[in-house]
Amino acid sequence: MPRLKNKRIVVLGASGRIGFDLCRKLAPDNEVIGIARFRDAAREQALRQMGVETYKIDFATEDFDAVPDDADWLFIQVAYQHGAEQHPELAEAINVHLPARACMYFRGVQGVVFASTGNVYGLPGRIVTEEDREAPIGVYSLTRYAGEQVVKFFCREFNVPTLILRYFYGNDARYGIVKKIAEALLRGELPPVWMGMQINAIAHEELVERTLRAAPHARVPALVMNLTSSRPYPLEDVIRLVAEELQIEPPPLDRIEERAQMTLAAHTPIQDRLLGETRIPLEQIVKAVCAGLKKARS
Ligand SMILES: NC(=O)c1ccc[n+]([C@@H]2O[C@H](COP(=O)([O-])OP(=O)(O)OC[C@H]3O[C@@H](n4cnc5c(N)ncnc54)[C@H](OP(=O)(O)O)[C@@H]3O)[C@@H](O)[C@H]2O)c1
Repeated sequence: MPRLKNKRIVVLGASGRIGFDLCRKLAPDNEVIGIARFRDAAREQALRQMGVETYKIDFATEDFDAVPDDADWLFIQVAYQHGAEQHPELAEAINVHLPARACMYFRGVQGVVFASTGNVYGLPGRIVTEEDREAPIGVYSLTRYAGEQVVKFFCREFNVPTLILRYFYGNDARYGIVKKIAEALLRGELPPVWMGMQINAIAHEELVERTLRAAPHARVPALVMNLTSSRPYPLEDVIRLVAEELQIEPPPLDRIEERAQMTLAAHTPIQDRLLGETRIPLEQIVKAVCAGLKKARS
């Protein structure tokens, strides 16, 4: 599959963890327009230095009028998660209305990549694939599910090839489920019960690289892909690896039945077929995350 080259590409959420790295990787070969509120001015400055044209827009209240609409590709890398239960109206504005407004405004594009989340599966208590029905629970999950429907609708309506990526658990030294587990263990606690008994974990760099490799697979009707590690890992294995790396003794795992019911983990048959299996092993992710934590503590 050819990579994106000589295109005019709009990235919504350009200051975010994924959006920023997409801009960085796309900028050398493409004309990139990065949009966000840029609450961290240094992120905007860094993007401009890479040659990215930036626009400061609050997607909740402002429209796209200032941005040229003749883009070739649209990446939507924005969501409102933390606070969604307390502010459902804002969750709907960002997770549902924004993708609709963006798909309308940039309707002439050759392709759309929409960042969704494994949360649309709800809490299945088992490992899912894209064949499983979505079962959203709570405002965040419901609004992300609704966002997917909006994107699917515009894909068909405007005949725009579209890819919906259901990300699960990116990780690096800054963020992710492995870091959360390591922080819990350092406090002498077990990981929270909501993590379930199995988790996926993909290295952030691999998640970004796969997002770009997956983009040319956009199609009509929209293709939905789970994007995460090709297989989930037993929580106990992750705890053991992290504890070894941090040289601590973890408490024995508790509330097994409750944890099993909360499991949300995935297999990724579509990703594996189109992109091959993920290659960065859990051990490498754990090492990088723990090295960051050890450095921060020293
Ligand atoms: N990283 C993962 O492991 C993961 C897992 C599951 C799903 N996802 C999905 O992937 C997408 C990107 O994730 P991420 O980790 O890169 O998220 P992130 O770091 O939180 O980035 C979110 C981006 O959206 C922008 N944004 C948020 N609200 C905005 C608003 N009202 N107006 C304008 N810009 C706004 C933020 O910029 P400003 O704050 O500067 O405006 C930032 O650029 C999201 O849809 C997320 O749900 C990611």
